[in-house]
Formats: sequence, structure tokens, C-alpha cells
Amino acid sequence: MADVTVIGTGYVGLIQGVCLADVGHDVTCVDIDEAKIEMLRTGTSPIFEPGLEELLAKTIASGRITFATPDDGWADLLGDIVFVAVGTPQADNGAADLRFVRSVTSAIAAEATHPFTLVMKSTVPPGTGHALIRRTLADAPVDIAYVSNPEFLREGKALEDWYRTDRIVIGSDTPDAAEAVSALYEAVDAPRVITDIASAETIKYASNAFLSTKISFINEIANLCDVIGADIDAVSHGIGMDTRIGPDFLRAGIGYGGSCFPKDTRALDFIATINGYEFSLLKSVIEVNNRQRLLPVIALVRALPHLHERTIAVLGLAFKPDTDDVRESPAVDIVPLLVEEGCSVKVYDPIAAEVEIPGATRCATVWEALDGVSAAVVITEWGEFATLDWERAAGMMTSPAVVFDGRNCLDPSKVEAAGLSYMAVGRPGAHRTGRSG
Ligand code: UGA
Repeated sequence: MADVTVIGTGYVGLIQGVCLADVGHDVTCVDIDEAKIEMLRTGTSPIFEPGLEELLAKTIASGRITFATPDDGWADLLGDIVFVAVGTPQADNGAADLRFVRSVTSAIAAEATHPFTLVMKSTVPPGTGHALIRRTLADAPVDIAYVSNPEFLREGKALEDWYRTDRIVIGSDTPDAAEAVSALYEAVDAPRVITDIASAETIKYASNAFLSTKISFINEIANLCDVIGADIDAVSHGIGMDTRIGPDFLRAGIGYGGSCFPKDTRALDFIATINGYEFSLLKSVIEVNNRQRLLPVIALVRALPHLHERTIAVLGLAFKPDTDDVRESPAVDIVPLLVEEGCSVKVYDPIAAEVEIPGATRCATVWEALDGVSAAVVITEWGEFATLDWERAAGMMTSPAVVFDGRNCLDPSKVEAAGLSYMAVGRPGAHRTGRSG
């Protein structure tokens, strides 16, 4: 079993560290955030992810995972295989901000006292690996092999995805290092894609860009369904049955959010542009996603006279269910737009992180949010909303009230049976949003 270090205990690093410890490796997780490290030592996860805290407790008890800060000295913290899993936020120009990746790589390269393999787990744009090798690793006092090993975990399903991934991608110019990284995942029964560094980096971005394209495509078809009177549920089902297309990522709605798709599509567009290539399809994918978020606001402006005198309930803040993550969630754009329209906005989410949206009030229950409102906008397809008692809701909302189902996750007949107007994205019978493209 290998001696592994994982640098960065954010979403990617923590899952990686805990899962590697679970399959038997000795893992040291390192983070500059002392409070987080203290929390992890007590078995508390800083993020909400189903099953993570249980696995954390199990691996801590087994003694195979420990937590440290860089103050303990890199020379002592570096194992034979070192994963870099620090954040790559979006810079103002849309590029991936590689500041943290560069500083941590420089620090470990300078202070290492034994050869090791550096595995890039952070999402870094194509070309980053070779630049790091050239500019930083080549001058290190010890041999450092470089491997790109992108992650494909979905928030909310990260543990399941780690153990049952569709593929493990390993890019390296050093076959032994690639082999050693592949061996770490011996317990995972998945095909390996062994390739060069730039191709591995590109697989990560191309995967997220393709999935984003699928979502924007089905959203365009849903908008078309809205204007011609077709049913997006039937259309998605019908096209998804073609095995060349596949049924996943064909759920229409108010678009993708989260910490990955929006950031990675913009970063890939930036990388293409900076290398002299005009990636027009990707630009359209991003544009469609930005427009899609406006749908609930456009619909409410049209459906409700005197919108500025009304109170609206926004149901869901998280960018998708089973996560508390609100990064790039459509809600973060939609709520301020409603406030700007002059509405009073009440928001409810079962678990989403606290987020300051001026002019909006956070409610503790869905009923508190629905009390006295003219409209409910479903942003996140939490199970709680899909099974909501719409008769009870209608009794609390002012009449006539509307429901905008931004995720096509409600049963329209139940909402309408309660006397509420139902609006959705590309569903027939639902009040048209009136968009024409
Ligand atoms: C995504 C990818 O699915 C992972 O493979 C990848 O590893 C990860 O990004 C990453 O790069 O780290 P995640 O952001 O957790 O994972 O979320 P997804 O489940 O993929 O959903 C992304 C967004 O697309 C959500 O806002 C979701 O509501 C939206 N979506 C998804 C749709 O609007 N329609 C769909 O049919 C599917």
C-alpha cells in the first residue's frame, strides 16, 4: 500500500484522501486552513456529501488517514505520491486562476527531500502540466514525475462515483509514474485511459463541455417546444433512447450551475481564444445557459401584473439537490433580478449554505416561504418540492397564484388541481413562458 499525500481538503481533495485511505493506503491530507484541519481531525466534514462523514470516521479509526497543515514542514509531509487538489477558481477574464496550484507546486518542489510523483487532481487547463514541469519541477533538487489524473465526481454522488467511475484517466510522460498511480486504484474496477498529459487535461474539460452542451441543447429544444406546443419530456425520452445519444443530461430547465460547468466552460473558451481558436459552439452553450436563467423572471413579469407589489417564494438555493453548494446556482442570479423588479423575495432551501442576497429573506420551512406569496419559483429539484402538498400551498398563497417549475420536476396535474397556474420549461399545457428564442 502506498504512502500518499493529498494537498487541499476541499471537495475533490477530501473525497480523494478519504477514499484512498478506505482502500488501504496511508494518507496525509494537508490544508492551509487550520480550522478545517482541526474539524477533520474530530471527524467532522466541512462539506455536506452523503456518506462522507461515516467514511471519514471509519478511516480515522483505522489510523490510515491523518490531517496536517504545511506548518508541519513539507519535507515530512510528502509521501511517494502527492496529489495536488487545491482550488482553481475563475479569474476575472474567465481563465482558470492557477495561483494556488503554482504556489503549492513551487513550495513542495523546493522543499522535497526525496523523489516523488506529483499527481494533478485540480482541474487545470490543457498545457498546465507541461508548463509546471518546464518552469518549476525541472529545477527541483529531487526527481519529480508528473501525472495528470482528472476527477469526474458529481457532488452529492461523489463516493458512489469514486468507487464506480466509468474510467480512470492518467496522463504522463513517465510510464512508471502512470503505472504507480493506476495501481493506487486497484480496488476500483474501471477501465484506464493512459495517455499524455495534455490529452488527459483535455479529456476533463471536453467531458464537462460536452455535458454542458447536452444541457444547453436540450434547453434550446425545450424553448422550441414552448413555442410550438411540443412536450420536452416526451422529446427527451424519445431522443435519449438512441444509444448514440443516451438518456442522461437531457433534463431541461433553467440551466446548469455549480462550481464546475460554468467555470470550466468559460476556462476552455478562454484557452481556445488565447491559442487563436474561436470555439463558437462552446460560446453558444454558455450564452444559452445564461439566457435560460432569465426564464422565471421573464415568465413572472408577463404573468403577474404589478410584480413590484408582490411577494415571491424562491424554492431551492443549491445548484442541484443533495448538496449545500450554492456556487453559480441559478438562484444567485434569479433572486437579485426579482428584487430588482421590486418584489419581496422569500427563499427556502432545506440545506443550502447561508448566502447573503440583499433584499431576500431566508425562511426556515417551505410553508413559511409560501405564506402570502403570489408565485413560487422552483430552482432546485429537491424531493421535498416534488412531493409537496400543493392544496395546502394554494391555501396559503394569494390568489391567483402561479408556480414556475424551473426544473420540470413537479406533477403539473397536482399543481393545477390545487387551482394554481403551472409554468415550466417546454412542457405542454403549462402556461407558455412566451420566449421565442
Ligand atoms: C460535474 C460533472 O458531472 C462531474 O463529472 C465533474 O467531475 C464535476 O462537474 C467536476 O468537474 O468537478 P457536478 O457539478 O457535481 O458535476 O454536477 P452535475 O450533477 O453534473 O450537474 C451540473 C449542473 O447541471 C446542475 O446545475 C444540474 O442541475 C444541471 N443539469 C444536469 C441539468 O440542468 N440538466 C441535466 O440533465 C443534468
